[in-house]
Amino acid sequence: MNADVRRGTITLYQADAREALPRYADDAPAHDAHGRRIDYLRVSLTDRCNMRCVYCMPDIGMKYLPRPELLTTDELLLVLRAAARAGFRKLRLTGGEPTLRPDLVDIVRRARAIPGIEHIAMTTNALRLAQLAGPLRAAGLDRVNISIDTLDADAFRRMTRGGDLARVWAGIQAADDAGLLPIKLNAVIVRGLNDHEVERLAALTLEHRWEMRFIEVMPLTGVADVASDGVVRSDELIGRLTAAFGPLEDLGHTASDSATRRRIRGARGSLGFISSVSDPFCASCNRMRLTSDGRLHLCLLRDDELDLRAAIRAGADEAAIEQRIRHAVAIKPWGHGLPDGVLPTLRGMSALGG
Ligand code: 5AD
Ligand code: SF4
Repeated sequence: MNADVRRGTITLYQADAREALPRYADDAPAHDAHGRRIDYLRVSLTDRCNMRCVYCMPDIGMKYLPRPELLTTDELLLVLRAAARAGFRKLRLTGGEPTLRPDLVDIVRRARAIPGIEHIAMTTNALRLAQLAGPLRAAGLDRVNISIDTLDADAFRRMTRGGDLARVWAGIQAADDAGLLPIKLNAVIVRGLNDHEVERLAALTLEHRWEMRFIEVMPLTGVADVASDGVVRSDELIGRLTAAFGPLEDLGHTASDSATRRRIRGARGSLGFISSVSDPFCASCNRMRLTSDGRLHLCLLRDDELDLRAAIRAGADEAAIEQRIRHAVAIKPWGHGLPDGVLPTLRGMSALGG
Protein backbone atom coordinates (compact mmCIF):
# COMPACT_ATOMS: atom_id res chain seq x y z
CA MET A 1 0.00 0.00 0.00
CA ASN A 2 1.28 3.44 -0.72
CA ALA A 3 0.25 6.84 0.54
CA ASP A 4 -1.34 7.25 3.89
CA VAL A 5 -0.99 4.16 6.03
CA ARG A 6 -1.72 4.54 9.71
CA ARG A 7 -1.37 1.93 12.37
CA GLY A 8 -4.21 0.97 14.65
CA THR A 9 -6.80 1.70 12.07
CA ILE A 10 -5.31 1.39 8.63
CA THR A 11 -6.27 3.98 6.09
CA LEU A 12 -5.84 3.10 2.49
CA TYR A 13 -5.73 6.29 0.53
CA GLN A 14 -4.48 4.81 -2.69
CA ALA A 15 -3.73 8.07 -4.41
CA ASP A 16 -1.80 6.32 -7.12
CA ALA A 17 -4.47 4.90 -9.37
CA ARG A 18 -1.94 2.84 -11.30
CA GLU A 19 -0.95 0.81 -8.29
CA ALA A 20 -1.17 -2.88 -9.11
CA LEU A 21 -3.96 -4.75 -7.35
CA PRO A 22 -4.49 -8.49 -7.26
CA ARG A 23 -6.59 -9.69 -10.17
CA TYR A 24 -10.07 -10.88 -9.15
CA ALA A 25 -12.34 -13.22 -11.07
CA ASP A 26 -15.24 -11.21 -12.43
CA ASP A 27 -17.78 -13.94 -13.11
CA ALA A 28 -19.27 -14.28 -9.61
CA PRO A 29 -20.60 -11.88 -6.97
CA ALA A 30 -17.95 -10.53 -4.63
CA HIS A 31 -17.49 -12.19 -1.23
CA ASP A 32 -15.09 -10.97 1.43
CA ALA A 33 -12.35 -12.98 3.11
CA HIS A 34 -14.80 -13.97 5.88
CA GLY A 35 -17.27 -15.51 3.48
CA ARG A 36 -19.72 -12.63 3.63
CA ARG A 37 -21.52 -11.77 0.42
CA ILE A 38 -21.29 -7.99 0.10
CA ASP A 39 -24.13 -6.75 -2.07
CA TYR A 40 -25.45 -3.60 -0.39
CA LEU A 41 -23.87 -0.23 -1.16
CA ARG A 42 -24.73 2.82 0.90
CA VAL A 43 -24.06 5.81 -1.29
CA SER A 44 -23.42 9.16 0.36
CA LEU A 45 -24.39 11.85 -2.17
CA THR A 46 -23.19 14.82 -0.14
CA ASP A 47 -21.70 15.49 3.28
CA ARG A 48 -23.91 18.55 3.73
CA CYS A 49 -27.19 18.69 5.58
CA ASN A 50 -30.01 21.13 6.21
CA MET A 51 -30.19 20.01 9.83
CA ARG A 52 -27.45 19.53 12.40
CA CYS A 53 -28.57 16.75 14.71
CA VAL A 54 -26.68 16.79 18.00
CA TYR A 55 -25.67 13.12 17.69
CA CYS A 56 -24.47 13.55 14.11
CA MET A 57 -22.67 16.88 13.78
CA PRO A 58 -20.72 19.02 16.21
CA ASP A 59 -22.09 22.46 17.05
CA ILE A 60 -19.13 24.32 15.62
CA GLY A 61 -16.21 23.47 13.41
CA MET A 62 -17.99 21.39 10.76
CA LYS A 63 -15.93 21.39 7.58
CA TYR A 64 -17.59 20.36 4.33
CA LEU A 65 -15.93 18.97 1.25
CA PRO A 66 -15.28 21.53 -1.48
CA ARG A 67 -17.61 20.82 -4.41
CA PRO A 68 -14.93 19.68 -6.91
CA GLU A 69 -14.10 16.88 -4.48
CA LEU A 70 -17.54 15.31 -4.89
CA LEU A 71 -18.13 12.69 -7.53
CA THR A 72 -19.98 14.16 -10.50
CA THR A 73 -23.19 12.46 -11.62
CA ASP A 74 -21.34 10.64 -14.41
CA GLU A 75 -18.52 9.52 -12.10
CA LEU A 76 -21.04 8.28 -9.58
CA LEU A 77 -22.96 6.32 -12.19
CA LEU A 78 -19.70 4.75 -13.36
CA VAL A 79 -19.07 3.51 -9.82
CA LEU A 80 -22.62 2.19 -9.50
CA ARG A 81 -22.39 0.27 -12.77
CA ALA A 82 -19.05 -1.19 -11.68
CA ALA A 83 -20.55 -2.09 -8.29
CA ALA A 84 -23.43 -3.89 -9.98
CA ARG A 85 -20.91 -5.86 -12.05
CA ALA A 86 -19.15 -6.82 -8.81
CA GLY A 87 -22.42 -8.23 -7.48
CA PHE A 88 -23.98 -5.32 -5.60
CA ARG A 89 -27.78 -5.53 -5.78
CA LYS A 90 -29.12 -2.97 -3.32
CA LEU A 91 -28.35 0.73 -3.08
CA ARG A 92 -29.21 3.18 -0.34
CA LEU A 93 -28.81 6.87 -1.04
CA THR A 94 -27.68 8.78 2.04
CA GLY A 95 -25.89 11.99 2.93
CA GLY A 96 -25.52 14.21 4.85
CA GLU A 97 -28.91 14.83 3.38
CA PRO A 98 -29.29 13.26 -0.08
CA THR A 99 -32.14 15.54 -1.14
CA LEU A 100 -29.69 18.47 -1.15
CA ARG A 101 -28.12 16.98 -4.24
CA PRO A 102 -29.70 18.80 -7.23
CA ASP A 103 -29.27 15.79 -9.53
CA LEU A 104 -30.97 13.36 -7.11
CA VAL A 105 -33.93 12.40 -9.32
CA ASP A 106 -31.62 11.93 -12.30
CA ILE A 107 -29.31 9.72 -10.22
CA VAL A 108 -32.23 7.52 -9.17
CA ARG A 109 -33.52 7.22 -12.73
CA ARG A 110 -30.10 6.27 -14.09
CA ALA A 111 -29.26 3.92 -11.22
CA ARG A 112 -32.59 2.18 -11.72
CA ALA A 113 -31.61 1.36 -15.30
CA ILE A 114 -28.40 -0.44 -14.30
CA PRO A 115 -28.67 -4.20 -14.87
CA GLY A 116 -28.29 -5.99 -11.54
CA ILE A 117 -29.54 -3.17 -9.33
CA GLU A 118 -32.69 -4.61 -7.79
CA HIS A 119 -33.52 -2.23 -4.98
CA ILE A 120 -32.95 1.47 -4.31
CA ALA A 121 -33.77 3.02 -0.96
CA MET A 122 -32.95 6.39 0.59
CA THR A 123 -32.36 7.68 4.11
CA THR A 124 -33.56 11.26 4.49
CA ASN A 125 -34.59 13.83 7.06
CA ALA A 126 -37.72 14.42 4.91
CA LEU A 127 -37.53 18.22 4.98
CA ARG A 128 -37.69 18.26 1.17
CA LEU A 129 -39.74 15.13 0.69
CA ALA A 130 -43.10 16.84 0.24
CA GLN A 131 -41.92 18.09 -3.18
CA LEU A 132 -39.63 15.18 -4.04
CA ALA A 133 -41.49 12.01 -3.03
CA GLY A 134 -43.58 11.82 -6.23
CA PRO A 135 -40.72 12.50 -8.69
CA LEU A 136 -38.44 10.10 -6.81
CA ARG A 137 -41.02 7.33 -6.89
CA ALA A 138 -41.57 7.93 -10.60
CA ALA A 139 -37.80 7.75 -11.18
CA GLY A 140 -37.67 4.34 -9.53
CA LEU A 141 -36.93 4.87 -5.84
CA ASP A 142 -38.41 1.94 -3.89
CA ARG A 143 -38.63 3.24 -0.35
CA VAL A 144 -37.36 5.61 2.33
CA ASN A 145 -36.10 5.67 5.89
CA ILE A 146 -36.89 8.93 7.64
CA SER A 147 -35.22 10.31 10.75
CA ILE A 148 -37.61 11.44 13.47
CA ASP A 149 -36.27 11.46 17.00
CA THR A 150 -39.08 13.11 18.90
CA LEU A 151 -42.72 14.08 18.40
CA ASP A 152 -42.37 17.33 20.30
CA ALA A 153 -41.73 20.30 17.99
CA ASP A 154 -39.55 22.18 20.49
CA ALA A 155 -37.48 19.14 21.37
CA PHE A 156 -37.15 18.41 17.66
CA ARG A 157 -35.84 21.90 17.00
CA ARG A 158 -33.31 21.46 19.80
CA MET A 159 -32.18 17.98 18.77
CA THR A 160 -31.80 18.86 15.12
CA ARG A 161 -30.60 22.43 15.81
CA GLY A 162 -33.34 24.10 13.84
CA GLY A 163 -35.39 21.36 12.16
CA ASP A 164 -39.12 21.93 11.56
CA LEU A 165 -41.15 18.91 12.68
CA ALA A 166 -44.24 19.95 10.70
CA ARG A 167 -42.25 19.76 7.47
CA VAL A 168 -40.95 16.33 8.40
CA TRP A 169 -44.54 15.15 8.97
CA ALA A 170 -45.53 16.52 5.59
CA GLY A 171 -42.59 14.63 4.10
CA ILE A 172 -43.62 11.37 5.77
CA GLN A 173 -47.16 11.84 4.49
CA ALA A 174 -45.89 12.54 0.97
CA ALA A 175 -43.72 9.42 1.05
CA ASP A 176 -46.72 7.37 2.17
CA ASP A 177 -48.92 8.86 -0.56
CA ALA A 178 -46.27 8.30 -3.22
CA GLY A 179 -45.93 4.63 -2.26
CA LEU A 180 -42.34 4.74 -0.99
CA LEU A 181 -43.17 1.75 1.17
CA PRO A 182 -42.61 0.29 3.66
CA ILE A 183 -41.67 3.50 5.45
CA LYS A 184 -39.16 3.06 8.25
CA LEU A 185 -38.72 5.81 10.81
CA ASN A 186 -35.37 6.14 12.58
CA ALA A 187 -34.99 7.54 16.07
CA VAL A 188 -31.51 7.77 17.53
CA ILE A 189 -32.12 7.54 21.26
CA VAL A 190 -29.95 9.70 23.51
CA ARG A 191 -30.43 9.49 27.25
CA GLY A 192 -31.72 12.72 28.70
CA LEU A 193 -32.73 14.09 25.30
CA ASN A 194 -35.43 11.84 23.89
CA ASP A 195 -35.39 8.58 25.81
CA HIS A 196 -38.61 9.57 27.59
CA GLU A 197 -40.37 9.55 24.21
CA VAL A 198 -39.88 5.97 23.13
CA GLU A 199 -43.39 4.93 24.20
CA ARG A 200 -44.96 7.76 22.18
CA LEU A 201 -42.83 6.94 19.16
CA ALA A 202 -43.64 3.24 19.44
CA ALA A 203 -47.35 4.06 19.67
CA LEU A 204 -47.20 5.44 16.10
CA THR A 205 -47.14 1.82 14.93
CA LEU A 206 -50.56 1.14 16.44
CA GLU A 207 -52.20 3.08 13.63
CA HIS A 208 -49.58 3.26 10.90
CA ARG A 209 -47.95 0.47 8.90
CA TRP A 210 -44.53 2.00 9.55
CA GLU A 211 -41.51 0.37 11.15
CA MET A 212 -40.38 2.54 14.06
CA ARG A 213 -36.71 1.85 14.67
CA PHE A 214 -34.71 2.76 17.73
CA ILE A 215 -31.00 3.21 17.19
CA GLU A 216 -28.31 3.12 19.87
CA VAL A 217 -26.29 6.31 19.52
CA MET A 218 -22.78 5.72 18.25
CA PRO A 219 -19.81 7.85 19.30
CA LEU A 220 -18.51 8.98 15.94
CA THR A 221 -16.17 11.91 15.42
CA GLY A 222 -17.50 15.22 16.66
CA VAL A 223 -20.30 13.81 18.80
CA ALA A 224 -18.44 11.52 21.21
CA ASP A 225 -19.49 13.72 24.15
CA VAL A 226 -23.19 13.33 23.35
CA ALA A 227 -22.86 9.67 22.59
CA SER A 228 -20.63 8.32 25.31
CA ASP A 229 -22.99 9.16 28.18
CA GLY A 230 -26.10 8.83 26.07
CA VAL A 231 -26.34 5.22 24.97
CA VAL A 232 -29.62 3.55 25.88
CA ARG A 233 -29.34 -0.16 25.23
CA SER A 234 -31.96 -1.86 23.12
CA ASP A 235 -32.75 -4.38 25.86
CA GLU A 236 -33.62 -1.51 28.20
CA LEU A 237 -35.98 -0.09 25.55
CA ILE A 238 -37.59 -3.47 24.93
CA GLY A 239 -38.16 -3.79 28.68
CA ARG A 240 -39.82 -0.40 28.86
CA LEU A 241 -41.98 -0.97 25.82
CA THR A 242 -43.05 -4.35 27.16
CA ALA A 243 -44.07 -2.69 30.42
CA ALA A 244 -46.09 -0.10 28.50
CA PHE A 245 -47.71 -2.25 25.79
CA GLY A 246 -47.49 -5.85 27.02
CA PRO A 247 -45.33 -8.62 25.56
CA LEU A 248 -43.92 -7.73 22.15
CA GLU A 249 -44.32 -10.23 19.36
CA ASP A 250 -40.88 -11.31 18.07
CA LEU A 251 -40.65 -10.84 14.30
CA GLY A 252 -37.04 -12.03 14.21
CA HIS A 253 -34.18 -10.69 12.26
CA THR A 254 -34.32 -10.51 8.48
CA ALA A 255 -30.99 -11.71 7.12
CA SER A 256 -28.52 -8.83 6.94
CA ASP A 257 -30.99 -6.32 8.31
CA SER A 258 -29.30 -4.50 11.14
CA ALA A 259 -32.55 -4.37 13.15
CA THR A 260 -34.22 -7.00 15.30
CA ARG A 261 -37.95 -6.59 14.87
CA ARG A 262 -40.89 -6.77 17.28
CA ARG A 263 -44.53 -5.87 17.19
CA ILE A 264 -46.91 -4.46 19.74
CA ARG A 265 -49.84 -6.85 19.89
CA GLY A 266 -52.49 -5.74 17.40
CA ALA A 267 -50.34 -2.97 15.91
CA ARG A 268 -50.37 -2.31 12.16
CA GLY A 269 -46.68 -1.45 12.04
CA SER A 270 -43.60 -2.91 13.68
CA LEU A 271 -40.68 -1.91 15.87
CA GLY A 272 -36.98 -2.27 15.09
CA PHE A 273 -34.01 -2.16 17.42
CA ILE A 274 -30.54 -1.39 16.10
CA SER A 275 -27.97 -2.37 18.70
CA SER A 276 -24.71 -1.36 17.10
CA VAL A 277 -23.15 -0.61 20.47
CA SER A 278 -24.53 -3.36 22.72
CA ASP A 279 -24.68 -6.14 20.13
CA PRO A 280 -22.58 -5.53 16.98
CA PHE A 281 -23.90 -7.35 13.91
CA CYS A 282 -20.65 -7.83 12.00
CA ALA A 283 -21.40 -11.48 11.20
CA SER A 284 -24.36 -10.54 9.04
CA CYS A 285 -22.78 -7.42 7.56
CA ASN A 286 -23.40 -7.27 3.81
CA ARG A 287 -22.63 -3.63 3.21
CA MET A 288 -20.05 -1.16 2.15
CA ARG A 289 -20.17 2.62 1.92
CA LEU A 290 -19.27 5.00 -0.87
CA THR A 291 -18.41 8.48 0.36
CA SER A 292 -19.46 11.52 -1.63
CA ASP A 293 -15.82 12.11 -2.56
CA GLY A 294 -15.58 8.69 -4.09
CA ARG A 295 -13.97 6.48 -1.51
CA LEU A 296 -15.13 3.05 -0.50
CA HIS A 297 -15.40 3.11 3.27
CA LEU A 298 -15.03 -0.49 4.33
CA CYS A 299 -16.68 -0.48 7.77
CA LEU A 300 -18.76 2.27 9.38
CA LEU A 301 -16.78 2.07 12.60
CA ARG A 302 -13.29 2.05 11.13
CA ASP A 303 -11.28 4.47 9.07
CA ASP A 304 -10.20 2.12 6.29
CA GLU A 305 -10.95 3.46 2.81
CA LEU A 306 -10.07 2.79 -0.77
CA ASP A 307 -10.07 5.61 -3.26
CA LEU A 308 -12.06 5.19 -6.45
CA ARG A 309 -12.18 8.82 -7.49
CA ALA A 310 -8.43 9.06 -8.06
CA ALA A 311 -8.64 6.02 -10.29
CA ILE A 312 -11.58 7.43 -12.22
CA ARG A 313 -9.88 10.78 -12.70
CA ALA A 314 -6.77 8.95 -13.90
CA GLY A 315 -8.89 7.34 -16.62
CA ALA A 316 -9.92 3.97 -15.14
CA ASP A 317 -12.81 2.32 -16.98
CA GLU A 318 -15.74 0.34 -15.60
CA ALA A 319 -13.85 -2.96 -15.54
CA ALA A 320 -10.93 -1.37 -13.68
CA ILE A 321 -13.26 0.20 -11.12
CA GLU A 322 -15.00 -3.15 -10.73
CA GLN A 323 -11.61 -4.68 -9.87
CA ARG A 324 -10.98 -1.98 -7.24
CA ILE A 325 -14.41 -2.61 -5.73
CA ARG A 326 -13.71 -6.35 -5.64
CA HIS A 327 -10.42 -5.57 -3.90
CA ALA A 328 -12.22 -3.42 -1.32
CA VAL A 329 -14.64 -6.29 -0.66
CA ALA A 330 -11.75 -8.74 -0.36
CA ILE A 331 -10.03 -6.65 2.32
CA LYS A 332 -13.20 -5.67 4.19
CA PRO A 333 -12.37 -6.01 7.87
CA TRP A 334 -14.23 -7.96 10.51
CA GLY A 335 -15.23 -6.37 13.79
CA HIS A 336 -14.64 -2.92 15.15
CA GLY A 337 -13.22 -1.33 18.24
CA LEU A 338 -16.39 0.15 19.67
CA PRO A 339 -16.63 -2.27 22.63
CA ASP A 340 -13.04 -1.28 23.59
CA GLY A 341 -13.56 2.41 23.03
CA VAL A 342 -11.39 2.50 19.89
CA LEU A 343 -13.13 4.93 17.63
CA PRO A 344 -12.80 5.97 14.03
CA THR A 345 -11.51 9.49 13.63
CA LEU A 346 -11.50 10.47 9.99
CA ARG A 347 -15.12 11.11 9.14
CA GLY A 348 -18.16 11.96 11.19
CA MET A 349 -21.53 10.30 10.77
CA SER A 350 -22.83 13.07 8.54
CA ALA A 351 -20.17 12.22 5.97
CA LEU A 352 -20.92 8.51 6.20
CA GLY A 353 -24.66 8.47 5.93
CA GLY A 354 -25.51 6.40 8.98
N1 5AD B 1 -25.42 7.15 16.07
C1 5AD B 1 -26.33 6.36 15.46
N2 5AD B 1 -26.99 6.71 14.35
C2 5AD B 1 -26.74 7.92 13.85
N3 5AD B 1 -27.24 8.55 12.76
C3 5AD B 1 -26.64 9.76 12.66
N4 5AD B 1 -25.76 9.93 13.67
C4 5AD B 1 -25.81 8.80 14.43
C5 5AD B 1 -25.12 8.36 15.60
N5 5AD B 1 -24.20 9.12 16.21
C6 5AD B 1 -28.23 7.97 11.87
C7 5AD B 1 -29.58 8.64 11.96
C8 5AD B 1 -29.95 8.99 10.57
C9 5AD B 1 -28.93 8.29 9.74
C10 5AD B 1 -28.53 9.08 8.54
O1 5AD B 1 -27.80 8.11 10.55
O2 5AD B 1 -30.53 7.72 12.35
O3 5AD B 1 -31.23 8.52 10.28
FE1 SF4 C 1 -28.53 15.68 8.87
FE2 SF4 C 1 -29.25 13.15 9.18
FE3 SF4 C 1 -27.06 14.07 10.38
FE4 SF4 C 1 -29.44 14.88 11.25
S1 SF4 C 1 -28.65 12.76 11.28
S2 SF4 C 1 -27.64 16.19 10.83
S3 SF4 C 1 -30.60 14.96 9.38
S4 SF4 C 1 -27.34 13.88 8.21
